[in-house]
Amino acid sequence: MPKIRTLKQVDLEKKRALLRVDLNIPLGENMKVDENEKWRIEAIIPTLKYLIKQKAKIIIISHLGRPDGRRNPKFSLKPVAQELKKILKKKIVFSNEIIGRNVEKKIEKMKFGQILMLENIRFLLGEEKNSPRLAKELAKLGDIFINEAFANSHRRHASMVGIAEYLPSVAGFLFEKEIQELDKILKKPKHPLIAIIGGAKISTKIRVINKFLKIADQVLIGGALANTIFAAQGYFMADSVVEKKAFSEIRKINLKNPKLFLPNDLVALVKGTIRYHEIDEIEKSEKVYDIGPKTIYSFCDLIEKAKMIIWNGPLGLYTQKPFDKSSKIITEAIAESKAYSIAGGGDTVAFIKQVEKEKVFDYLSTAGGAMLDYLAFETLPGLEALEK
Ligand code: 3PG
Repeated sequence: MPKIRTLKQVDLEKKRALLRVDLNIPLGENMKVDENEKWRIEAIIPTLKYLIKQKAKIIIISHLGRPDGRRNPKFSLKPVAQELKKILKKKIVFSNEIIGRNVEKKIEKMKFGQILMLENIRFLLGEEKNSPRLAKELAKLGDIFINEAFANSHRRHASMVGIAEYLPSVAGFLFEKEIQELDKILKKPKHPLIAIIGGAKISTKIRVINKFLKIADQVLIGGALANTIFAAQGYFMADSVVEKKAFSEIRKINLKNPKLFLPNDLVALVKGTIRYHEIDEIEKSEKVYDIGPKTIYSFCDLIEKAKMIIWNGPLGLYTQKPFDKSSKIITEAIAESKAYSIAGGGDTVAFIKQVEKEKVFDYLSTAGGAMLDYLAFETLPGLEALEK
């Protein structure tokens, strides 16, 4: 565990606790929190309950979506606050204002153990710019800063990093847990260790692929990531999703590394017909949407022997049947294996939550990008701010 102070090491009684969480939960058209996303709210409940018990005034800060520094009702945290209230079974006062004298007054009037949730911090331009002015304004609202937003700790933002310059800062329980779990993979790996990496954008995953090519025994690649690798190698991928901009970066991966397992067959769709192909058989107008049965079989074979598995990124277009097949079978294979397993990433966990009838994974991370960065760099800006 890095050298950071944690909640239990500080006196919180009668303190104003500024609790930064990541409740960046996609709201549907109906502006409601989806059933499969509620677990992300539940993940911060232990910290909230602890703060209530310690008689702190709790001021919750979060972001939602990317409103680009402007107020936008589509990205309001109000529906999330309502859901949190239901889960916690406790009143939560919502403040449309985020900083300023009125908010300070509201906090003055709060009783200890009460909760105030501020509107989306990304409505303020200074947040993503890590403006010291905003960090100072936020710091005025509290006596202590708690980073419980591991999932956003790869962002060098005012409410994540800047604020820690002005207040004593500690990690929340979830933040601690996320680090402990990922450190099992980084610091105490059990072999064979398998990394399964899928999803759409390879540009965000090159570093983590390279890291696992060093520390893991096998790196299994699927999803549109594989399309991009094949296209960069000169294979015809027809109308499949390919990240052309990342072609030059693919050179950074040693594709000949024997630990790297790319799909050797694929599932494609053309005019409503599903076709199973080797990688050099893709035809005009086809779209590759999943890895093929031979690849799934060989991946499952490796999973069976693994002692540790980490998974980020679906292996196919999991939202559309039958292209959810590989991700489904891999989930089942992990359920049957004895390996210690961790999964992360919004899409991956959303998929697992859909199919998981019982607990399959030893740990589901609330983080996507932050998990990848932590695994690649073994630190994050939000963590460094706590270490200072
Ligand atoms: C995430 O969902 O990964 C974090 O909340 C960060 O969100 P962002 O990618 O919009 O910065």
